[in-house]
Amino acid sequence: MQEFIDAIAAVAARAGVPENAARSSVTVPKERDRADLTLPCFRFAKQLGKSPPQVAAAVADAFEPGGLLASAEAAGPFVNFRLDRPTFTRKVLQSVTDNIGASDEGAGQAVVIDYGSPNIAKPLLFHHLRSSMIGQVLCNLHRRRGYEVVGLNFLGDLGTAFGKLMVGIEEFGEPESIAAYNRTYVQASNFCTENDGAMDRARAWAKRLEEDDPEALRHWESARRLSLGEFQTVYDWLGIRHDVVDGEKMYVKSGQALVEELLENRTAEESEGGVVIDLQNAGKKLGKFLIRKSDGASLYQTRDLAAARDRMERFGFAKMLYVVDIAQELYFRQLFAALKTTGHDWADRCRHVKFGQVLVDGSRAKTREGGGTHLEEVLREGERRARAVVEEKNSDLADKAAVAKAVGTAAVIFCDVGFPTTKNINFDWNAILSFDGRTGPYLQYVHASACSILRKGGYTESKQTDGDASRLTDDHEWTLVRRLAEFSDAVGKACAECEPSHVSNALYDLARGFRSYHTAGSRDASLRVLVDDDATKTARLWLVDKVRCTLAAGLRLLGIDPVEEM
Ligand code: ARG
Repeated sequence: MQEFIDAIAAVAARAGVPENAARSSVTVPKERDRADLTLPCFRFAKQLGKSPPQVAAAVADAFEPGGLLASAEAAGPFVNFRLDRPTFTRKVLQSVTDNIGASDEGAGQAVVIDYGSPNIAKPLLFHHLRSSMIGQVLCNLHRRRGYEVVGLNFLGDLGTAFGKLMVGIEEFGEPESIAAYNRTYVQASNFCTENDGAMDRARAWAKRLEEDDPEALRHWESARRLSLGEFQTVYDWLGIRHDVVDGEKMYVKSGQALVEELLENRTAEESEGGVVIDLQNAGKKLGKFLIRKSDGASLYQTRDLAAARDRMERFGFAKMLYVVDIAQELYFRQLFAALKTTGHDWADRCRHVKFGQVLVDGSRAKTREGGGTHLEEVLREGERRARAVVEEKNSDLADKAAVAKAVGTAAVIFCDVGFPTTKNINFDWNAILSFDGRTGPYLQYVHASACSILRKGGYTESKQTDGDASRLTDDHEWTLVRRLAEFSDAVGKACAECEPSHVSNALYDLARGFRSYHTAGSRDASLRVLVDDDATKTARLWLVDKVRCTLAAGLRLLGIDPVEEM
């Protein structure tokens, strides 16, 4: 695209417009039927002593046909350009690879992504999908853009939850599987609410763990090990791979030392028996940030401060992303302000990537007694339901089981990363499993249909590097080429804004463009990909292959398996 923008700037320069200013003014118009690219001329009027329409007319006059641009036409204060379609098409198709959207913008920069980060001794629940999956996609996107990614799982392996578990172990015996842990935990929670003094026992156990009491440590280790093993099943299923597994317990001691240090350098102060960082000057409503309670017990926020500092030392990050529920929004604003106030200027490199809730039938997915729906159950159910859909649509399919698993998983993943992250998910099986509409299975289906055309066309070798783009003159083809050209930008934008839905949008638009090309071909035989004329067929197969390649690459970025048949 840049070359075409440069060509427009060169035309404008011939009419006296400063070339760089012209270059940065070129835009892609919303209304594609008038122009491929537009140059608004308001900015240049004053300097050239002409009205914007006069500048536009002069630029249109300076245009000479030939080369990258096909035409230029003044329309009021704008100049509307048409690209030379065959040239553009050829360049775009040549640029599409499996690595679509790749760039070296992140070269030499480390990005720490804190994601997943569940609490141990409990199973992964449905809502854990969000942090895990959004985080994994952000890892994929940052890698594609050349960053050195450290995907980090920050286990919640401390606190009264652990204390309650210990009371449960004392009362009901030691559990040996995570399922048993979960039951013990639920029983213990109830026990602690119902029995006087039980909560004090839980707090005492939490404290013993903080102090590295051997018995507490022994139980903590097995809870942590069993939990991680259990999490791994779901992580493998979803393609989630952390580079580093840390936990909150690591930061009890360094958190305490940090409090002492901040008291000493006077960035923290004593208040009502505890210690706070005053954030009043850092922003409205941030208030005071408690970093030590009067009873001295370790706090989430203090551990997070120590963890941030430790990660800076270990990874020297250029960015650190915390992929956490929107409910912790104020907390993260306070955390970053607290880092900044206490002299950690790199606090500006930290960002909270927030996401909305998972709602099932309009209410939060985690409310069920016993802690809510297990994520693994949801995935199994998706597999089961997808199996029924696959049987119905294509009963001759060779590997139905594998396809059903991929389709069910795609449905679940796409409802998470297919829409702006801050929105709540309204979970509904029928909607997410539909082969029609904005769903994971729809995208897989369109990808599989491109694969099927390629197979029928005998297009087994997808390494074609050049072709006769002048054969691709239909508007449907042009739309597809434009969508392919825009795809890389969507990857860049998704990464920069930490918003996977830019990729989902671009995928969905491309898939719809491909569907209407397909439909047009079934109505009008001359538009079929597999036409009689060999040269046209070869060019069209080339285009279809690049659509296939982009759909596959985009789905993979979203953590979805692009199946070839379904
Ligand atoms: N374990 C926490 C929870 O379940 C999330 C931790 C997020 N990461 C962090 N550095 N605070 O709410």
